[in-house]
Amino acid sequence: MRRRRLLFSLLLVAAAGLGTAAVPPPGAAHAAAPAATPLDRVIPAPASVHSTGDAYTLGDRTRIRVPGGSGEARRVAGYLAGLLRPATGFGLPVTTKDGRDGIVLRLGGSGTKGLGAEGYRLTSGARAVTISAARPAGLFHGVQTLRQLLPADVERESARRGTWRIAGGTIADSPRYAYRGAMLDVSRHFFTVAQVKRYIDQLAMYKINKLHLHLSDDQGWRIAITSWPRLATYGGSTQVGGGPGGYYTKDDYREIIRYAAARYLTVVPEIDMPGHTNAALASYAPLNCNGQAPPLYTGTQVGFSSLCVPKKETYDFVDDVLRELAAMTPGRYLHIGGDEAHSTSHADYVTFMDKVQPVVAKYGKTAIGWHQLTGAHPAKGAVAQYWGYDKTGAAERRQVADAARNGTRLILSPADRAYLDMKYDKNTPLGLAWAGYVGVQRSYDWDPGSYLKDAPADSVFGVEAPLWSETLSTTAHIEYMAFPRLPGIAELGWSPASTHDWDDYKVRLAAQGPRWDALGIGYYRSPEVPWPAK
Ligand code: ACM
Repeated sequence: MRRRRLLFSLLLVAAAGLGTAAVPPPGAAHAAAPAATPLDRVIPAPASVHSTGDAYTLGDRTRIRVPGGSGEARRVAGYLAGLLRPATGFGLPVTTKDGRDGIVLRLGGSGTKGLGAEGYRLTSGARAVTISAARPAGLFHGVQTLRQLLPADVERESARRGTWRIAGGTIADSPRYAYRGAMLDVSRHFFTVAQVKRYIDQLAMYKINKLHLHLSDDQGWRIAITSWPRLATYGGSTQVGGGPGGYYTKDDYREIIRYAAARYLTVVPEIDMPGHTNAALASYAPLNCNGQAPPLYTGTQVGFSSLCVPKKETYDFVDDVLRELAAMTPGRYLHIGGDEAHSTSHADYVTFMDKVQPVVAKYGKTAIGWHQLTGAHPAKGAVAQYWGYDKTGAAERRQVADAARNGTRLILSPADRAYLDMKYDKNTPLGLAWAGYVGVQRSYDWDPGSYLKDAPADSVFGVEAPLWSETLSTTAHIEYMAFPRLPGIAELGWSPASTHDWDDYKVRLAAQGPRWDALGIGYYRSPEVPWPAK
């Protein structure tokens, strides 16, 4: 938001003919210009890079061309212009006129089919940088690559002297996995729409394409449900530590979806059931087996709550909630939780999941559950999210692998690798440590394709980095835990296994530090990463 306002005032100044004095002409800094960022120095590592020829230099005459551009391609061009204008001070007009110079975003055309729904090709030379893709999502991901190839100062909010060069050559790039997610727990602590949007912008930088919102838990229900209004108004009225909590109105939720979609992220909403339901049980007495509503809960224990599996009201509730949630969620997936149901008998758990999965299907969606779902009967097409860690027993792992062999797709979120809420080490102040400390290398250095023994590599649908918020209540907390680990999980989701190399990765990661400084992202300066001096 701040950026947009700034851009507006820059344009006003430029329109008044006063703006150019503040910005040096494009050639001015050339002599002392540092080398352009090598094409392979980005995160996630591109699938293929061929460096050759002259660099492209952005200047005050540069146009962003969207030849024959569809509305969506023009929107991506507008997004790119919005990224580049503040720091460069250039006008960067977007035009649908074809031409051989400038930044060209080209949708369709020869050779783009093989790039898939999200891939792109970026070609850079003296006259132009061209990003081509079969689909707008590919253009958007190509724009994120382009952004990282420019100096970190491009992320700043005010115009500055710079040589805005992009090294010559070609990148051809497409993702390893279709599902590349990040989860935000907005239940243990509530985060506002603005806070979620800021995180979405950060996820988009690393080509994450799913935002999983953990919308309900013992400590708070965070989404308005018209047919059960007290879920939000009462069940959402507090959070861990006893603060005021909050919830998203349906308009709030749609705004998050819209903002995410404009950055090619799909929202995956989670209603965690049958455990993790104290906020719902507190809101409606009839949901409880004994007919009595428990008090709201603001602690951090898990496993003490359960929906009442034998009761009819339970399924009225589930049907209403999933119907309303499906109606306002354009994405294909509804996450039904299913973890840590320690107060539900195994038989009840299986009964419950057998009844609830068809409700998800009835409303046209595909169910995702935490991997305990594999201990019941995962529906055809269901997805299980594995969150085990190095101490998870062999039988539990085997159960997940067996389900995978039977067709259940897997999202991998091993807690001792991908959980962004684990402490980095014993000295870092925020987070939990039940899965151990998760340093930056540990978080990055594993292979999703071979992680779960006996699960077929092609059962892996993707990876996700969950961020649980028992100890996190501010944007600064989110950023401190997500950076620098989030880009590593993003790279595991996007880049071919052949690019995987910690020694190379940590250098690329270090180069992100100045970019985060420019963006105002407060990250943990882990001693594992060779950051440039500030
Ligand atoms: C979980 O961490 N209980 C999914």
